[in-house]
Amino acid sequence: MTLISELSILQPADKEEVDLLRTSPDEPAVGKKRLYIESYGCQMNFADSEIVASVMRNAGFATTSTAEDADLIFLNTCAIRENAEQKVRNRLKHLTGLKRQKPALLVGMLGCMAERLKTKLLEEEKVVDIVAGPDAYRDIPKLVEEAESGQKAVNVFLSREETYADIAPIRLNSNGVTAFVSIMRGCDNMCSFCVVPFTRGRERSRDPFSIVREAQDLFDQGYREVTLLGQNVDSYKWRGTEDTVQEIGEPGEPVLPTADTVTFAKLLELVAQIHPDLRVRFSTSHPKDITDDVLYTMARYDNICNYIHLPAQSGNSRVLKLMNRTYDRPWYEDKIRSIRRILGDDCGISTDMISGFCTETEEEHQDSLSLMDFAQYDYAYMFAYSERPGTLAAKKYADDIPEDVKKRRLNEIIAKQLTHSAARNQRHVGQVQRVLIEGPSKRSDADLCGRNDQNKMVVFPRGDWQKGQYVNVLVTECTSATLRGEVV
Ligand code: SAH
Ligand code: SF4
Ligand code: F3S
Repeated sequence: MTLISELSILQPADKEEVDLLRTSPDEPAVGKKRLYIESYGCQMNFADSEIVASVMRNAGFATTSTAEDADLIFLNTCAIRENAEQKVRNRLKHLTGLKRQKPALLVGMLGCMAERLKTKLLEEEKVVDIVAGPDAYRDIPKLVEEAESGQKAVNVFLSREETYADIAPIRLNSNGVTAFVSIMRGCDNMCSFCVVPFTRGRERSRDPFSIVREAQDLFDQGYREVTLLGQNVDSYKWRGTEDTVQEIGEPGEPVLPTADTVTFAKLLELVAQIHPDLRVRFSTSHPKDITDDVLYTMARYDNICNYIHLPAQSGNSRVLKLMNRTYDRPWYEDKIRSIRRILGDDCGISTDMISGFCTETEEEHQDSLSLMDFAQYDYAYMFAYSERPGTLAAKKYADDIPEDVKKRRLNEIIAKQLTHSAARNQRHVGQVQRVLIEGPSKRSDADLCGRNDQNKMVVFPRGDWQKGQYVNVLVTECTSATLRGEVV
């Protein structure tokens, strides 16, 4: 999962370094207790914080954007690499100072780091009062009550069913135009380097009707883009029952035959059919699971964006086997060929790459670089391997590539990607691109910005245009990060 922000297109060495910190907004709080939420990590966590805000609103809390004003502070944490956890630990040091001034303040740890460390967090970080894993968010009001009575409160049970399908998220930090919609939770893949299966539990798909309804509601509220989220969206699968068919049997709503299995391709189509002006994106695709069916569905609908995040992780088949990715290099190359064949050369493709995985040789690192040459990614998220306790790799293989070698290989990967990003962006110069306006540009109020079909940020003079509108922009120049142009 990746956060696609204007900044992250800069191909950071570590995307967490530049990800915009997501905090809760200010709500009217008369007579209510105040909750401040800070979210780290991937889009799944940002989407989850919106579920938590919804649960807490029903429990009588209002959100605030200032930690200093809060009665309750939640950090929704990430455990994907060691530095993601380190960052949260540093933040806790600051909160310790805050709590000294305000002893009634409660601090809760949510998300993946909470799930990974469980009660150990309470022992290691005295400032923490509440620990809640990703499947325990319905239980949070009870945990808060426990903590208010002076006990430490923990719920880290992982569920096989929980999808929070019935909870309407409260959109935090919303631009009112683009929103994330979770379609599944957990992951069953067990990539050897990855902590996610341990922190998010078994994979489960959310019922398609609640997904379509949420997307329809967003459209009705003026949103014009939804990103369907899951760790592995291509393995989305939902089997209908008699009950659920009756539930959606109303005029105007999509109807599915009783026993139909809804695949990801079908779900994508159902969401795309809501309205031609509602753009649909999705993330993340796993190379082993993405089907031609998905690609043909993308080709059939103009409003399904021409962009695929297809993390390779490595370009070498032996390393991919050690990573337990279950595909090899020829398989991955075939997927790229299928994308180009069905969706054309203009389809945006991005990747995740890991440098210095256990036993990776110089030649095998060169294979990652040559795969990048083959795929010509529009952008990439690139990381040095960080061993995570409890993962298959931590148990089976030595983390034997020295830090300086990992860093040097990472820098080579980044340098290569910068040239590819620049070249791929250059292709758009002289083209007219359809852009969904998201708001003012980060650098200048005289400009607006929004993304094109391929998920690239396009900046142009404001004129009389408003966010939420589509405009055609003639691209006149570009950097490796953004396109610039004028509305035509
Ligand atoms: N479900 C997505 C990835 C989610 S994690 C997928 O399968 O593609 C996001 C990215 O973090 C991964 O793609 C991987 O590149 C990186 N990552 C995960 N674990 C890591 C580790 N231990 N060290 C370095 N990078 C890691
Ligand atoms: Fe982690 Fe692999 Fe699952 Fe992605 S597919 S979340 S990398 S285990
Ligand atoms: Fe996401 Fe980090 Fe968890 S990347 S799934 S928040 S470990």
